[in-house]
Amino acid sequence: MNSKKTILVTGGAGYIGSHTIIELLETTDFKVISADNFSNSSVRTFDRIEKITGKKVINYEVDLCDKISLEKIFENEKNIVGIIHFAAYKSVGESVSDPHKYYHNNINSLLNVLECCLKFNISNFIFSSSCSVYGNISQLPVKEDTPFGKAESPYAFTKQVGEEMIKDYTTAFPQLKAIALRYFNPVGAHISGLIGESPINKANNLVPIITQTAIGKIKEMTVFGSDYPTRDGTCVRDYIHVTDIGTAHIKAMMYLIENKNESNFSIFNLGTGTGVSVLEAISAFEKISGQKLNYTIGEKRPGDVIAIYSNTEKSEKELEWKPQFNLEEMMGTAWKWELEQKKEI
Ligand code: WQD
Repeated sequence: MNSKKTILVTGGAGYIGSHTIIELLETTDFKVISADNFSNSSVRTFDRIEKITGKKVINYEVDLCDKISLEKIFENEKNIVGIIHFAAYKSVGESVSDPHKYYHNNINSLLNVLECCLKFNISNFIFSSSCSVYGNISQLPVKEDTPFGKAESPYAFTKQVGEEMIKDYTTAFPQLKAIALRYFNPVGAHISGLIGESPINKANNLVPIITQTAIGKIKEMTVFGSDYPTRDGTCVRDYIHVTDIGTAHIKAMMYLIENKNESNFSIFNLGTGTGVSVLEAISAFEKISGQKLNYTIGEKRPGDVIAIYSNTEKSEKELEWKPQFNLEEMMGTAWKWELEQKKEI
């Protein structure tokens, strides 16, 4: 029987889950296991994690909405001390066209995982949340105590509901300690170029669309709107490297395990604190790639917020976490990943 303290990562084959697993394997002594049914990721991710770290990750291929299968993991793994829950659908646009898929999956899987925390006495729980819980906010930068805005999509609403559920669980069951990490815009790829953002479905987010345009998979990309009330008319976001997001999860898990938490439910923003416009992101990419990007200015995209970026003081102070990658490095790793994928074909 393996007596090593274990961290369960749900959605471990996904973009942020896989990068977090690499940081866990490389910077801690935990045994790391995953639960991922590959609904939006590839089993090959685990081969690449092993290539990067030299360590194997056991993945339980279960649907977290299937409570019986999920509980088998806890019956089999007796030393789980913490859970990092990434597994959820995350396409804003798809959630608008198929809200049932999002409410069913994102809410039921969270409910089942929380129930396992109680049933199997797991007291440290990290929830993958999102800046989209703030909605269209005018007071910038946003702080963790900024109230929820109106959710602009069912996806965002599942994150708001998720946070509220966890708050109620940790109030009713004080043995459970939890953190919600609100990601701003995760971008980039592991410095090795061996893993990165590779959703099974068509890319929706800006940075993969930039790299796919640059490599020729997309003929010309569209900048969605250039007459917003911002410094250059395009939307502003807080882009943060996915590895910086990964290291924040380690800091958050240790914050709970070492009982540094002041309350049973804590919230932290994960961003750089710097707003970057779409055109500035494109310029940064052109600079690092040495390539002119083929884009046109088009109509605004429904649901887009004008600008959002984070106040990161609380995360830096309480988690002792500081993002290490700058915008050009974010673009450089994203481009390296795109070039590596081309080699594979
Ligand atoms: C960024 C900007 C677009 C594509 C979403 C989720 C958020 C988080 C990150 C999970 C916007 C513009 C984009 C294109 C463009 N996900 N854009 N042309 O919408 O800020 O955030 O992903 O945690 O929860 O809401 O990210 O990358 O889609 O868009 O002009 O072809 O790039 O209009 O201003 P978004 P994004």
